[in-house]
Amino acid sequence: MIQRARASLRHVLHKSSPLHSSISKVRARHLSSVNVAASLKADDPSTLTCSELDNFDWDNLGFNLMPAEFMYTMKCSKGENFTQGELCRYGNIELSPSACVLNYGQGLLEGAKAFRGENGRLRLFRPEQNAIRMQIGAERMCMPSPSTHQFVEAVKEIALANHRWIPPTGKGSLYIRPLLMGSGAILGVAPSPEYTFLIYASPVGNYFKEGTAALNMYVEEEFHRASRGGAGGIKAITNYSPVLKAQANAKNRGFSDVLYLDSNSKTNIEEASSSNVFIVKGNVISTPALSGTILEGITRKSIIEIAKDLGYKVEERCVKVEELNDADEVFCTGTAAGVAPIGSVTYQDKRVNYSMEGQLISQKLYSTLVGIQRGLIEDKWGWIVEID
Ligand SMILES: Cc1ncc(COP(=O)(O)O)c(C=O)c1O
Repeated sequence: MIQRARASLRHVLHKSSPLHSSISKVRARHLSSVNVAASLKADDPSTLTCSELDNFDWDNLGFNLMPAEFMYTMKCSKGENFTQGELCRYGNIELSPSACVLNYGQGLLEGAKAFRGENGRLRLFRPEQNAIRMQIGAERMCMPSPSTHQFVEAVKEIALANHRWIPPTGKGSLYIRPLLMGSGAILGVAPSPEYTFLIYASPVGNYFKEGTAALNMYVEEEFHRASRGGAGGIKAITNYSPVLKAQANAKNRGFSDVLYLDSNSKTNIEEASSSNVFIVKGNVISTPALSGTILEGITRKSIIEIAKDLGYKVEERCVKVEELNDADEVFCTGTAAGVAPIGSVTYQDKRVNYSMEGQLISQKLYSTLVGIQRGLIEDKWGWIVEID
């Protein structure tokens, strides 16, 4: 069992990663104190049997999958509501080849994080917002969805069951990935007869390989992420693969990520592949307005509140691609990305660089967000859910 666990861990870690050597020191001990024994599949080769991570090098976490021990699943039939879910060991799931999600992409994803606060207590950031966003997405995709209470309780359960995988304060977080999918078998294009809500988790550090350094973005003109009346405003799984090509092209040319334009006029910036975008000019912070083609990021929403509170003027409006030419700062926001400063934007082969000197507004906003998340700054909006 221990060998298998190590093999699984080795499989998910890059061989040259510093984590690889530290994980080999991990010792398998008893199962988590959480009462999950009844639902464990003891011999599932894909599960991790290590329940305690000793001597783990938390300093070098990137954004790579390192599955935490437990996942959560809950099923319901079409026309019914979700009722009771359960924790089980992380591992492969079984799906019919004709599952609706595989054939027609009826699926949604979410992304939330659990942190250790300065006082050592475990905290979630606005998990009810993920629940609500999933409900809005589910309605658009003709799926039933867990209630806000069910969703938040399941996220809490996952964070607590996997508490040993939550990095020490300030060294990263546990990325929590809820999924909702049409898991039933179907042949013609129609809503699935059965649905699965699933949550897995992985400890993570910085999303971009640049770490906290500024990003270099490429403005994409050929491929679009979303169009009017489409599903760009929800976190549909089908929104991501169509832009892998644009992302790969940009990355092959040395860029960090892509900024997408609106598909209609190709003159307004929308967002990046998995984060929202903001520009700063003087005391004004602007971000593209929500028009159905942009995901309403929870970080975006929070940064807008924080910026207003700090005295900045915030505008949600059409942001013209030309405005990138004379912006003071550009940055993007996301649960995974945090608040990431953009150092340059390349549009039509012209590169505009932004100064990284002095105290950046993006840095001030991020410090405030992280301060609230860690419990260093008063959480006056009630965004934090302490869970232990
Ligand atoms: C397309 C897209 N835009 C923006 C975001 C940022 O959203 P949030 O701040 O809720 O993570 C994400 C990430 O979930 C995303 O996938």
